[in-house]
Amino acid sequence: MRAHHIVLLPGDGIGPEITMVTRRLLEAVSKKLDFELFFEEQLIGGQAIESKGVPLPEETLKSCQSSDAVLMAAIGDPRYDEIPREIRPESGLLSLREGMNLFANIRPVKIIPALINASSLKPEIINGVDLIVVRELTGGIYFGKPKGRIKTENGERAFNTMTYSSEEIKQIAEVSFEIARTRNKKICSVDKANVLDVSQLWRDQISKLSEEYTDIELSHMYIDNAAMQLVRNPRQFDVLLTSNLFGDILSDEAAMLTGSIGMLPSASLSIDGPGLFEPVHGSAPDIAGTNKANPIAMVLSAAMMLKIGLKETAAAEILEKCVDKVLQSGYRTVDIMSESCVQLGCNEMGEELLKEI
Ligand code: IPM
Ligand code: MG
Repeated sequence: MRAHHIVLLPGDGIGPEITMVTRRLLEAVSKKLDFELFFEEQLIGGQAIESKGVPLPEETLKSCQSSDAVLMAAIGDPRYDEIPREIRPESGLLSLREGMNLFANIRPVKIIPALINASSLKPEIINGVDLIVVRELTGGIYFGKPKGRIKTENGERAFNTMTYSSEEIKQIAEVSFEIARTRNKKICSVDKANVLDVSQLWRDQISKLSEEYTDIELSHMYIDNAAMQLVRNPRQFDVLLTSNLFGDILSDEAAMLTGSIGMLPSASLSIDGPGLFEPVHGSAPDIAGTNKANPIAMVLSAAMMLKIGLKETAAAEILEKCVDKVLQSGYRTVDIMSESCVQLGCNEMGEELLKEI
C-alpha cells in the first residue's frame, strides 16, 4: 500500500484547532482511497519557545527534512513580541524555510462562486479571478545581510539589505515560467526597478530568461501599481512573480479578493526535497480557543500537499470538492458569513466537510 510520512506543525493560536479538523479529513480521504498516512507532530513557533526555548527545535527541522511533506497551521503569539527577534515565533518559520530550501512559495487565488458576496470588492470586479502569486521565499530583504540595529550619537540606526543574485532570480523565475505554461501563459513580474538596483537586476534577469520561454507573455509592473491593479482589475493577472517582501504584501491583498484570508492555501517548494504546505493566514490569537476559526485554508493546503507533494491527485480533488459542496450548501464560518447562510464553528465546519468525503 502507498504510504506517506507527514510532519504536522500545529503551532500557535488557532493552529491546533484547524489542524485537528484537517487531520481527520486527511485520515478519511486516505482510508477511502486506500493509502496510508503516518502523522508525526512537531513543535514550532511560540509552542516550541514555551517548551524548548527556541522557535525551531533541531528535532523539528530534522523531522521535516526527512519527511515526505510538512503540513503547518500557523505560528505567532503576541506574548513573544518583546523578546529578541532571533527567538520569536516568526524566526522559527523563516529558519524552517531556509533549512528546507523552500525558495518557491505558491499562493493560488481563485474566486469561489459561492463566496462572491463575502469579498469587500464588488462582484463584477472579482468574478472569474484565478491567479497565482509565485513568491521568492528564501532571499531578498528577509534574509539579506548586513542587518541589525546600532547605537548612534543621537539614538539608534536600524538596517536591512534587499539583495538577490542572478542565480536566485533565475531559479524562482523558472518555477513561474513552468507554472505559467500550465495556465494562461502570462506572467507579470513585480518590482521597483524605477528606484532599486536589486529590482533592476530582477527585471534584467527575468527578461533575459523569457527569451527561452517564447510561448509565455511576460510583463513587468512596479509594486505600487501592482498593488493598485490587484484591486482595480485583478482579472488581468495570471501568474504574479514577486520577490519575498513584495509577495508577502501582495498575497495578503490578493487574499481579500476571495473574501477572507481564511480561505487561502499555499505551498512552499524546494528543488527536490519535501514541500511545506500552510495556510496564508496567521495564528489569529484573538480568536484562538473560541471555535471561530475557518479551517478551509488549511484543508485546501492539505489538498495542495496531496497533489503537489504526495502525487495523490484524486485525494486532493476529493478535499477540494468537499469544500465546494459545503460552501454551496450555505455553511460558513464567521469570517465568510453572509445573509441567509448557516454559521458554524470550526469543529462543526469540520464535521460538515467530513460528511462529504
Ligand atoms: C507569510 C507570513 C510570514 C512572512 C511571517 C509569519 C514570517 O506573513 O507567510 O506570509 O512574512 O513570510
Ligand atoms: Mg504574510
